[in-house]
Formats: sequence, structure tokens, C-alpha cells
Amino acid sequence: MSTAHVLPLSSPTLTRAEFARRSDELAAEAEKRARERQHPRGRMTARERLDHLLDEGSLRETDRFAGAATPADFLGSGVITGFGRIGGREVAVYAQDFSVRGGSLGDIEGEKIARLMRQAIDRRLPLFALLDSGGARIQDGVTSLARYGQIFALATEASGVIPQISVVLGPCAGGAVYGPALTDIVIMEREASYMFVTGPKVVQAATGEKISSADLGGADMHGSVSGVAHMVIDGERESLDAARAVLSYLPSHCGEAAPRYAFDGDDIGEAHARRVGDLVPEGAKQAYDMRDVIEALVDYGEFVEIHEHFAASVVVGFACIDGRAVGIVANQPNVDAGTLDVAASEKAARFVTLCDTFGLPVVTLVDVPGYRPGSEQERAGIIRRGAKLITAYASASVPLVTVIVRKAYGGAYIVMGSKSLGADVALAWPGAEIAVMGAEGAVDILHGKSLAAAERRGVDVAAQRAHYIEQWRASEISPDRALQTGELDGLVDPGETRWAIIDALRVTAAKPRPARSPRVRPNPPL
Ligand code: HXC
Repeated sequence: MSTAHVLPLSSPTLTRAEFARRSDELAAEAEKRARERQHPRGRMTARERLDHLLDEGSLRETDRFAGAATPADFLGSGVITGFGRIGGREVAVYAQDFSVRGGSLGDIEGEKIARLMRQAIDRRLPLFALLDSGGARIQDGVTSLARYGQIFALATEASGVIPQISVVLGPCAGGAVYGPALTDIVIMEREASYMFVTGPKVVQAATGEKISSADLGGADMHGSVSGVAHMVIDGERESLDAARAVLSYLPSHCGEAAPRYAFDGDDIGEAHARRVGDLVPEGAKQAYDMRDVIEALVDYGEFVEIHEHFAASVVVGFACIDGRAVGIVANQPNVDAGTLDVAASEKAARFVTLCDTFGLPVVTLVDVPGYRPGSEQERAGIIRRGAKLITAYASASVPLVTVIVRKAYGGAYIVMGSKSLGADVALAWPGAEIAVMGAEGAVDILHGKSLAAAERRGVDVAAQRAHYIEQWRASEISPDRALQTGELDGLVDPGETRWAIIDALRVTAAKPRPARSPRVRPNPPL
């Protein structure tokens, strides 16, 4: 469209109708330019993304004309900010617009985002960030870096107050990565998003390493290796759908109750829940997919998994049980026998903390043989990093319901939401193996010297060792001790588990969330 005949936006003679017409023209021009830039590359424009994320027609843009150099040369800013609704709930959102100077963040963009964040915090609204940006606007120099600093400070202030959900739909490079990193959930679109602190060129110049953007900071890497991405999703629309889905399990702010939906019953689901015991093999070492168990226990089998491919020996995610939004934490016998390692401990700790922040009860399903042994784990700091899971459970004030479905050994038993750490209700399936360690290990420690001495005397000790193991297994590896000491509230038949959890959630629903002992702040092992 030629700009020669268009009305300026700020003329004193402009009527309301002319202003409305001119602003619509400007918006249409900007969107046309954005489409020309994004569509040939198979990407949505920022506005299309917002339209998809928000309930239809609900976007109310803020600072719409900020960044227009002159009315006749309207480029606008590289970010759209505003408020809208998701599932009828008011939210704040910003979407970086790659068609305007690569979505880079300059003075104006920083100011717009900071203003939006301030309002989101003050009005207690969930905040969504759709990221697609070349990073700090080079022309704005240090000012744009300072704007990032402001955004980081606001994200930190918002943390724990309102849910913050980032959807990375394109580049996110340099220190800009800390914007999403400070938020509660990071969703990365599989094909076109990447995040790195230093890009491939700088990496090569500094270290000689040649690496592609995808290998350095692509969605799959962050979803499975670094753990930066909580969800990796194929497709832009699907990524935005995932962001909507996550919000449906969270309140709008920390002072609001977690969502509760009407649940009218589901005959097929309930029949499935009655047979959940069939999904778990009897042999303690046989693998199975814990996700099948989770899906059998939750409403409509709907489980929104977080960190699906990262630290997969533990499974975490959102679900509803009898209409109540809950967080699920479970060991995954299908991956490394479900052992806890550094990454799994941190993954579960972060998720429990997220649930506690936003008032979601945590349902923990335990089937854990122990911590993963070995020097690699010790060197990686399993002591320091494993402690985070203890901190998360022990400091949580939301209802904690724990069910041991097959086995729970040693330290891993205690840290997986045990009664002594603070579980409100702890149950086990009959026949669950609960002990300080496996029978073989215990016998070798308790009888190792005498067995070795007998062997030196030429005695065949295999039968004796087997006897000790059997004896230990019969006397020690069961839920009995845990029941006798009150570590377990009772046993639950597998087929009754769903209803036992429903009952536990009902009786703990009014659990007060007391202010903890006065202190400036906890000092958790970071
Ligand atoms: C100003 C930028 C820009 C930037 C891109 N553009 N990044 N303008 N500042 N940071 C502009 C380009 O000049 C171009 O303008 C348009 O956006 C599209 O960019 P292209 O390069 O044509 O697109 P593409 O080939 O898809 O490459 C995208 C890109 C590349 C990979 C993001 O643009 C790039 O490498 N940009 C620089 C990334 C970077 O190093 N940023 C600084 C990171 S440090 P025209 O007019 O031609 O359309 C940082 C520090 C934050 O962000 C610190 C916080 C504490």
C-alpha cells in the first residue's frame, strides 16, 4: 500500500473514525509484511500465534503504536504485548515479531514487555511469552541489555506469584535465553526453535568446535539432554495448544486454589483403574511403563507429561483425579530400572516445587530400586543434587499422597515423598518390597565375613548364602515394618488405588498452608 495519501496517526484534526481507519490500515500493512516474511518459511506471524493461543477475538493489545518512527513509515516494535483470555481466564501475553528487525529486543520492546510484566504481577495474571528473536537489538546497544536485565528482574519477582509459560518458536540466543529459563514452563517447537548462550560461530571461534545450531541448542537437545525445555512439540499451533493445556492445570496466581473441574464419571476409565494391578509385573526386576499405570489412575487417562525425554527414569506431569488438578511424580521402571540419578532428582524436585508453588497436591507413585550407584553419579554430585528432592518434598505444604506400587528401597524410598518427609497419606500395595536394601546386599554385608571364612575352609557356601537371602527376604522385605512404625497408613488393593487416592485428596483438601518458621529465606542446595 502506498503511504503517500494516508493520514498521519497523530494529526490534531484526526477524527475518531479516521483514527480507527488509519490504525486498521497500519495493522493490515504490518501483518501483510509479517506474512510475506514468515509464510514462505512455513512460520506463523506473531499475530497469528496470538490468535491461536488466545480465545477467539480476546486480544486487547497494549502500547500498540509504540516504536513507530513516523506515522508514514510505520514499522512499529518487534513485540506485540497485550491481554486476552485462555479458556475464559484473563492472561497477559507478549509475542516477539520476527518480521520487525528480527524480533530483536531494543529499548521500546523492552519497555513494552516490562510494562506488561508489571501489570501481570500487580493484577495476578498468568504470563505467556512467545519467543522468536535475534536477541539484543544491536543498534540499541547497552540500553537493550539493560532492558533484558529489567525483564529478568521482573521474571524473578513474578516467580512463585503467577504462572509464567514460555513458548520458544524461533531463535533465542545469547543472554536472552535467561528470559524463558526463569519461567515455570519452557515449551520448544521442535523444528525451528533453538536456545544457546553462545552461537555456533562464537563456539567455533573460541573453542574450535564445529557444531550445528540444532546440536548446540535445538529443541531435541534441550528436551532430552540439558532439560531446559519442559516440553518439545511438533508444530507451532501444537506448541501453543500445549501452553493452553498447561495453564488448565494451574491457578492464575499463587493465592488462588488449584483448578477443580466437574467429573461426571467415566465407566471405561474406572474399569481400567480396577485392573491397574495387571499392568505391573510381579517380578520386582521386570520392566513396565509407569505411564500406563498413571493413565489408568487419572481422569479420562489424560496425563500431560513434563520433561518426557529428560531424566526419563522418573515421570512427572499434570493430571486430574476426580476433577482435581494434581501433579504426578513416579519412578519409571522402563528406564534404568527406575533408579534415581542426579538429573531425575532435580527434575522431580523442580516439579514438586512447581506444584507446591501453585497449590497442586502431589501424588507420588513409587517403584524404585534405589539411587543409581557408581562413581559417575557421585562425581556428578548425587549427594548435593539429590538433596534437592528432599528439600522439595520436605518443604511442600500441599497435600502429599504416596503409593508404593511394587518396591521402595533405601534412601530412594525415603526421598520419594515418604511419610517421614511429610506425606499426608502413604499407602502400599500388598506384597510391596520395602527395605533398607536388597536381600543380596544385606546378606553380603551382614554375613560376608563368616561366609568368606567358611569358603576358605572349603565349605560350599552357596546354599548357606541362599538360605540367608531367603530368610532376610521373608523377614525384612515387606511393608510390615513400615506399617508397624506408622511410615505407611495402610495397604491398598491395586484395584482400589484410584479411589484411595480420591479419598486422600478429599480429606487433605483443606490442609492449611501454614507460614513456615520465620526466616528470611530458605537456602536450598542449588
Ligand atoms: C538488530 C537484528 C538482530 C539484532 C536480527 N536482526 N537480529 N537487528 N539486532 N540482534 C535483523 C536482521 O538484520 C534482519 O534485518 C532481520 O532481523 C532478520 O534477520 P536475518 O539475519 O535476515 O534472519 P535469519 O537468516 O533467519 O537469521 C536469524 C538470526 C540472525 C539467526 C537470529 O539474524 C542472527 O544471528 N542475529 C544476531 C543474533 C545475535 O547474535 N544477537 C545478539 C545475541 S546477544 P533485515 O532488515 O535485513 O530484515 C544477546 C544478549 C542478550 O541477545 C543479553 C541479555 C543479558
